[in-house]
Amino acid sequence: MPPGLGYATELADRYDDWFTPPASSTEATVALLARLAESAPDGPLLELGVGTGRVALPLAACGHEVHGIDAAKSMIEQLRAKPGGEELAVSIGDFSEVDHEGEFALVYVAGWTFFELPSQQAQLRCFKRASRRLLPGGLFVLDAHLPEALVASAGAGTRPVPTANGELALRTRRLQPAGQRYTSDYLVLTDGVFRHVRVDFRYASPGELDLMAATAGLHLRERFGDWSGTPFTDTSSYHVSVYELPA
Ligand SMILES: C[S@@+](CC[C@H](N)C(=O)[O-])C[C@H]1O[C@@H](n2cnc3c(N)ncnc32)[C@H](O)[C@@H]1O
Repeated sequence: MPPGLGYATELADRYDDWFTPPASSTEATVALLARLAESAPDGPLLELGVGTGRVALPLAACGHEVHGIDAAKSMIEQLRAKPGGEELAVSIGDFSEVDHEGEFALVYVAGWTFFELPSQQAQLRCFKRASRRLLPGGLFVLDAHLPEALVASAGAGTRPVPTANGELALRTRRLQPAGQRYTSDYLVLTDGVFRHVRVDFRYASPGELDLMAATAGLHLRERFGDWSGTPFTDTSSYHVSVYELPA
């Protein structure tokens, strides 16, 4: 089990209540991945850090063969309990290893998950292993915050963040720039009791990600400002990057 996954192992039953983005955001994610899959070779899709299936299940419901990897058995149990969850081929493991069997048209990491890999070595290994799992012309897609946006949000102090079920959640981000790390601490108020959730991240600039991709034999095909496919610009705080393995 990779370090720092306490939230996924201990709070999987509350994960969807507390951390699910608005439905429109998930719909946009599924739509963009489906569109990208059309431009990729024929073949299955693989989600790294599939979690409770927020993205994988609707993507599979559109007719795509979707596989997943996650380190947290408890998250996979939540996925399995949902409609269609039993049909997904899911393996338990560290997604930086990408040791799921098969060759894929598209491998993706969604929901701010890539930076949960705790070191540059783990992130680079993930690029390399994903690249080896791709069919020629296949795509590796990930979403991530820009470091500048993380600095700004850390400077903004403790803020309320929306939860799917309306419970009060407060988030503090703390940056440790020397190690390119940040920590998100959440306090969620449930039935009058605050619960604490901590998630640790190792961040990287788009340029560093592009270099990791190049080292893994992938090149940047497109970069969007979000999952709706808006252009990536100087004011973007976020990016969705699409890397391609040459055909
Ligand atoms: C923030 S959740 C996102 C889940 C899903 N991708 C989504 O967008 O709803 C991140 C998931 O990645 C998993 N995860 C984080 N690091 C991992 C690793 N190194 N190997 C496998 N799973 C990991 C966690 O267990 C968790 O289920």
